[in-house]
Parts: sequence; C-alpha cells; structure tokens
Amino acid sequence: MIDVSRLRADTPGVKKVTHFNNAGAALMPNPVIDAVQDYFEHEALYGGYETHRKRGNQIEAVYQSLAELIGADRSEVALSDNATRAWDVMFYALGLGEGDRIVTTSSEYVSNWAAYLQARDQKGVVVDVVPDTTAGDLDVEALESMVNERETALITLNHMPTNGGLVNDAIAVGEVAARHDVAYLLDACQTIGQMPIDVREIGCDMLTGTSRKYLRGPRGVGFLYVRDSFADRLDPVFVEVENAPIVLPDSYTLARGAHRFETWEKSYANVAGFGAAIDYAMDVGIAEMWERIQRLASTMRQQLSMIEGVTVRDRGLTKGGIVTFEVDSRQTLEVRELLAERSINVSVSTPFSAPYDMHARSIEGLVRASVHAYNTDNEIDDLISAIQILA
Ligand SMILES: Cc1ncc(COP(=O)(O)O)c(C=O)c1O
Repeated sequence: MIDVSRLRADTPGVKKVTHFNNAGAALMPNPVIDAVQDYFEHEALYGGYETHRKRGNQIEAVYQSLAELIGADRSEVALSDNATRAWDVMFYALGLGEGDRIVTTSSEYVSNWAAYLQARDQKGVVVDVVPDTTAGDLDVEALESMVNERETALITLNHMPTNGGLVNDAIAVGEVAARHDVAYLLDACQTIGQMPIDVREIGCDMLTGTSRKYLRGPRGVGFLYVRDSFADRLDPVFVEVENAPIVLPDSYTLARGAHRFETWEKSYANVAGFGAAIDYAMDVGIAEMWERIQRLASTMRQQLSMIEGVTVRDRGLTKGGIVTFEVDSRQTLEVRELLAERSINVSVSTPFSAPYDMHARSIEGLVRASVHAYNTDNEIDDLISAIQILA
C-alpha cells in the first residue's frame, strides 16, 4: 500500500496549493529539491567544472537509475534539455527523405506534429494517421493493415497525449513494429513516472521522456532511449565535442550508442535532481502510484460528469491521470484563473496542443486537471465544489 501521508510530508508544495497540473510540471519532493540545491551550492562554492570532476559518480549514477527505470542498458540512455529536443535529435537523425512514410496517431503533441509537417514539406516524407478506435485509442488492427499495405519507415506515437487521459497500447504497437520490421519511436513524456515502463516489453527502438512531469524532477531535463543495435543507424544532425569525442583536422568519430545524442554542457544541478526524482519514484513504487493515479482520476471524472454543464472529454480504453473537461458557460482560461484564485492549479489544452486531434474533434479548449499519487480525495472534493460554483 502506498503511504500517501509520506508522499505529502515529502512535498512542501502541497501546503501551498492543490496541484492538479502534474501533466505540466508536478510538485517536486524534498529529495529532489535537496539534490538540486546541494549540487548548485557546491558549484557556487567550489566551481562548476571542479564539482563535476568531484561528483562524477553522482552524475553517472543518474544514468544508471534512468536505465533501471525503463529496463534499458546504461549505453542506451542519454540526457537532453527537454523531451522535445530528445525526440528531435532522433527523429531528424533517421534521415527520412522523399517518399519515406511515417504512420502516427491522431493525438500527437504539437511539436512532434510540426516536425512531421516540416519533414513532409521539406523532404517529401509521407505522413499517414492511423484511425482511432471508437474508444479513441490508436487502432492497432488498422495500424497493422496500413503497415501491411505499404512500406513504412517509422511508426511514431505518444504513449499518452498532452490533452487527454488515454493510454495507447504501446506494447501491441511494438508487436506490429516487430512483425513488419518497422522502426518505432515512442513519446513517453506523459507516462514516464506515471506507470511502469519497460522498453524491452514495449519493443520500441527509441523512446523519449522528461523529468518535470510525472517523475516530479526539476524542469530543463529530458532524456532519450535508443536500442543499442539501432543507434548505429542514426546519424546525428548536430555533432560537437561530446557526441563526437574524436575530432581531427580532417575527420571525426561519433560516439557509440545513445551517447551520440549527448551534449557537453548541461545543468548538472538539475541532472542531480532528475536522478533523485527517479530514485524517489522507484522507492515509492511506480506500479503502486499508477494504481492510485488511475483511481483518483476515475473518481474525478465521475464527479465532474455529474455536474450539469460540465462535459468530460477523455477517451481511451485505459485511462491515466490526465482529466480533461469543458464547462459550458466558461472559457477554459477563465476556469483556470478562477481556480487559481482558490489556489487550485489546473492547466488548459488549446487547439495548438494537439492540432490534429483538437481539430478533428472540433474542440476549442479543454480544462486539464492532472492528478498524481500525492493528490487526495479531499483535494478532488475541493476542485469539484469550485467547479460546481463556476458551472
Ligand atoms: C505528449 C507530450 N509529448 C511531448 C511533450 C514535450 O515535452 P517537453 O516540453 O519537455 O519538450 C509534451 C509536453 O507537454 C507532451 O505532453
């Protein structure tokens, strides 16, 4: 059983706000705050490079923890500034060109979607969207028929979108990718830390995620996974001193594995915090948190749907911690601001958040309340009372 009082005692922010913006950036627990402050202070007192030399083992341990978190090898993970950059460096390194086809899902995040459009416009890449099931998930059977019908260079999708609770069946997609020998890139930005993730079980070649959302780490850190045997196929668009460790007057040699996507300079204090966040999440138990998150989100959906004038818009057979809804009489931004006056944090999803899906469903805006395991039923009651008044 998860110890919710411990989670809350570890989280100073819960005394200030009711935080339902975990899909934006979650409240950091004390071990994360301490790790960032401690590393930062050491840098201030002894010098940044000197601290790095002294604390190399601490930073190396972050990579080990990350590898353990997702069931990968150490050589298969790299750090980045954010999830989008982690995703970009691999997507562009695939070198897709004229006629290469990617298949994706309707709910893609805006930045990934923009990259598909750019690849289409600049390189002649063909972008096909797999239909949704009636429940709203990516239709895995339809995906298989599409991949069967025409050669496909890449299957690329989110595990969980930015604008709704659905969790795509990443493992079933992995089976399709394996059967047809198609490269598979999974955006796990919203699921990492929220539910157990094992890259071998999923069968993806590449996966990306972030520190600040369900892992509860600091902002400004993202990560990538690339399967060892796949990494050599990828030619990074940017080379520098870290991912090309040998540069001679007329040649350079790329690093092996995921390291070919590392950069030299990083915010090491935030990396230290990221490591603390991973260790904390694994210590609490991600499977246990996942169970609680699903239960809390389901309660929130049920209670919201009982309020007249409120429509819950989440889709998917399996749903996680993101709850999205509309309030008939109110603009989404207005709802966010009125809740903020009561110290309740929620976010909004605009048509720009997931352009294809929001346009397909003709949605102008959604209020997004995303729960984490440290949230409570009482906090949900507070949100529901506030929405009742607004609606
Ligand atoms: C599904 C999804 N993918 C990718 C991203 C991008 O993450 P980042 O802002 O760290 O680049 C987000 C951010 O909200 C997201 O929700």
